[in-house]
Amino acid sequence: MAIVRREGERACAIPHLGKGNGGDLHPLSANRGRREKSGGDRKSAHTRGGGIRLKIAVIGTGYVGLVTGAALAHLGHQVVCVDVNKDKIMLLKSGVMPIWEPDLEDMIRGAEFEGLLNYSTDASAAVSDSDAVFVTIGTPSSESGEADLSALWSVVHSIAPMLPDDGLLIIKSTVPAGTCVQIECYLRQSLPDSSRVAVAHNPEFLRQGSAVQDFLAPDRIVFGASSPEAHERLEEIYAPIESPKIRCGLKEAELIKCASNAFLAMKISYANMMADLCDALGASIDAVAEGMGLDRRIGPANLRAGAGYGGSCFPKDIRALIALAAKEQVEMELLKATEAINRQRIAVIMKKLESVFGMLGDKRFAIYGLAFKPNTDDTRESPALQLCSMLQQAGARVTAYDPVVSSMPELQVELAPDMYAAAEGSDCAVIVTDWAQFGRLDWGKLKQMMRSPYIFDARNMLDAASMAVNCERYGLRYMSLGRPAITPDAPLAIDLNR
Ligand SMILES: NC(=O)c1ccc[n+]([C@@H]2O[C@H](COP(=O)([O-])OP(=O)(O)OC[C@H]3O[C@@H](n4cnc5c(N)ncnc54)[C@H](O)[C@@H]3O)[C@@H](O)[C@H]2O)c1
Repeated sequence: MAIVRREGERACAIPHLGKGNGGDLHPLSANRGRREKSGGDRKSAHTRGGGIRLKIAVIGTGYVGLVTGAALAHLGHQVVCVDVNKDKIMLLKSGVMPIWEPDLEDMIRGAEFEGLLNYSTDASAAVSDSDAVFVTIGTPSSESGEADLSALWSVVHSIAPMLPDDGLLIIKSTVPAGTCVQIECYLRQSLPDSSRVAVAHNPEFLRQGSAVQDFLAPDRIVFGASSPEAHERLEEIYAPIESPKIRCGLKEAELIKCASNAFLAMKISYANMMADLCDALGASIDAVAEGMGLDRRIGPANLRAGAGYGGSCFPKDIRALIALAAKEQVEMELLKATEAINRQRIAVIMKKLESVFGMLGDKRFAIYGLAFKPNTDDTRESPALQLCSMLQQAGARVTAYDPVVSSMPELQVELAPDMYAAAEGSDCAVIVTDWAQFGRLDWGKLKQMMRSPYIFDARNMLDAASMAVNCERYGLRYMSLGRPAITPDAPLAIDLNR
């Protein structure tokens, strides 16, 4: 998009929004007249903890948008969640959850009861009567690996004319560095000179599966903006949350998000690379990861070896960062290696299965977990789907079970109603998503259902010592990644690679 700047104007300059919290003029005082005219339907002026109640529109009611809208309403703001998907909005209006996420439904019901959370397919009313608009639209990968921002730009174009003169447009979607400055320039050019609309970037760090907790008590909240006034309004919105708040520029906020996701993914690939070495050497990755993680400079998170990362964030955010850097002639070798290691995880698992079973054509596998991680129904870029498809390509029969994913016609895999039904007649149960209930299996019952007694823990979620006991007691064989396999004859070590 060509950005034409007015002569003498800096790319990032944002007009004044009003004095900050500490001054005698409330940040929203400039629009008080307008709000009173628009009806002033606030039940009370305050959020939890005594902050100012704001009117907020959230555009895009997906995993991030719904959590954001519900949480901001829970904190005491007046929120409208908007989506183009009429079915989704209808479900929400009729009290049905469109996604599965722990604690979300309770929070939504509470906010609805307070009259603070509404849903709409009509962005115009929500945006024109807002103090702030959050954009939480998907930013998937395009074929080149770059972030596909077409949906995001289409939203920006369509809502721009409706933004109140003193509005704040907050991009929460994950976007490549430079995007928000472009949006700021676009608004500057397309809105009347009198408009004082500001753009901010407030990246989201929630993890699906613990999204509510992550939103309400995050490690940090990042406020990217190019004016103190925009920063102040972000402070107002998040006033009830006590987490550390970082003020920075737009590009820095965009980079904090992408760099953090890339770093977390890199840790996962690093642990997986070390697990492969442990397999080759007959060592245990558990001890190695524990010893590494106790170093405070490293930390224990994301060091568990397994089937690799998936989902709608890590894979596409890394691809987007590599693509962005390439445009600037910066090579992201570390991230390319992170991706390459991750791509190999399913092949590593297949190799281990072949080393035990030989040809897989006449074998039956129970796949435990389809979601890309536990406590979510999201299967986007899930390693479990890749494994199902590779097993099927090898001619194996696959039956899957996931505690919340109960229908997946596109996968063409038989879905079982429970863990034991999935294992009936199978040669190997493969845990691909570390749902807690897979750690509470009745191993004796499972063994009776199976044709051969193999358990492949592709998330290293089960304790190796306990599994040694279970193997001995029930005649099971247990395999995992970067840890010696366990059989009744060799309770502590057989090397499947030899
Ligand atoms: N999912 C996560 O865990 C997570 C975490 C942090 C950041 N993010 C980022 O947040 C953004 C959103 O991710 P998500 O997982 O919530 O995506 P999603 O696909 O679940 O939700 C996007 C929503 O936007 C709606 N939408 C599309 N076009 C629209 C339009 N023109 N008007 C209104 N609604 C429209 C879709 O119908 C959908 O409901 C992405 O940039 C993602 O990278 C996601």
